[in-house]
Amino acid sequence: MAGSSSTPVLVPGISAQRRLDQASGLRAAMNSNPQDLSRIQVIAVSSGKGGVGKSNVVANLAVAAARQGRKVLIMDADLALGNVDILLGLTPQYTIEDVLSGQRRLEEVLVTGPEGIRLLPATSGGQAFTQLTHEQQLHLQSAFLQLASPPDLLLIDCAAGISANVLYFSLVAHETLVVVSPDPTSLTDAYALVKILSTRYHLRTFRMLVNKVKHSQEGKDVFRKLSLVTDRFLTISLDYLGCVPTDDYVTMAVAQQRAVCDVYPRAPASRAFTSLVKALNDWRGDCSWQGGFQLFGPAALGATRTVTEG
Ligand SMILES: Nc1ncnc2c1ncn2[C@@H]1O[C@H](COP(=O)(O)OP(=O)(O)OP(=O)(O)O)[C@@H](O)[C@H]1O
Ligand SMILES: [Mg+2]
Repeated sequence: MAGSSSTPVLVPGISAQRRLDQASGLRAAMNSNPQDLSRIQVIAVSSGKGGVGKSNVVANLAVAAARQGRKVLIMDADLALGNVDILLGLTPQYTIEDVLSGQRRLEEVLVTGPEGIRLLPATSGGQAFTQLTHEQQLHLQSAFLQLASPPDLLLIDCAAGISANVLYFSLVAHETLVVVSPDPTSLTDAYALVKILSTRYHLRTFRMLVNKVKHSQEGKDVFRKLSLVTDRFLTISLDYLGCVPTDDYVTMAVAQQRAVCDVYPRAPASRAFTSLVKALNDWRGDCSWQGGFQLFGPAALGATRTVTEG
């Protein structure tokens, strides 16, 4: 499986006894939750370049998916500069920082937004978690495994760039959805991200969404440009999820701190998100899912094994 080799994202230098303790803690967390966690779809949304629209994509895919009956949880994984709560007009009392420091249980920190979607908020302006330690990664995994009411879709809104956290969250997801815009610098940054995840961490499957297009042909053209380069230089499969138009209704919705799908369901961008969710649902039946290791399901134990081999 992808990611089965040891990886520098994970922090080495932990004593064998502590590793064993952490592994058994995670195993206990899995055993204490009898639900079928293997059906949860975990999608990490990243981009390389900042400002291409990841957080808007996550917030709106979440709302559109919840409308279609999915039970959605968003993790704001932009741990230092999170803003999904702002986009959804939520005012959380606690953040992921409280979970990672052991002050609060995950369930206490989650806030509920439109269509019943739940959000694990990040801090804004915090510096403490710019690179999760090995222990924090395991702590987060075990918090997810203990959720009494797990989602069936977990969307992870990653930070811009190619930081250790971005790589880690891509590795724990089933899918990495790379958001790009038609801007050429967005393509070079997306390529850099895909390259490092595939060559260094052996991820093989990527999906691409083109945001801020003038028309759907532009989305296809942008996808073709990137896939020409990845086909030539990398051993990966890059699939096209689709595109979202540049839409003034998105700007208006952001100003109102609402998801465009929520406040302007008939806007061009909202329609696009609704049809993109149908494609997301189809991925669920796709057995080519091959995240490095997953936050949920038996592979989480594989993750423990992986990180302890480092
Ligand atoms: N389809 C769209 N049409 C018009 N404006 C958009 C669209 N998508 C995103 N935007 C605008 O682009 C800006 C950046 O969006 P967003 O914050 O979602 O990007 P991001 O990739 O999450 O940024 P960061 O890398 O800083 O986290 C926002 O002002 C948002 O309103
Ligand atoms: Mg963002």
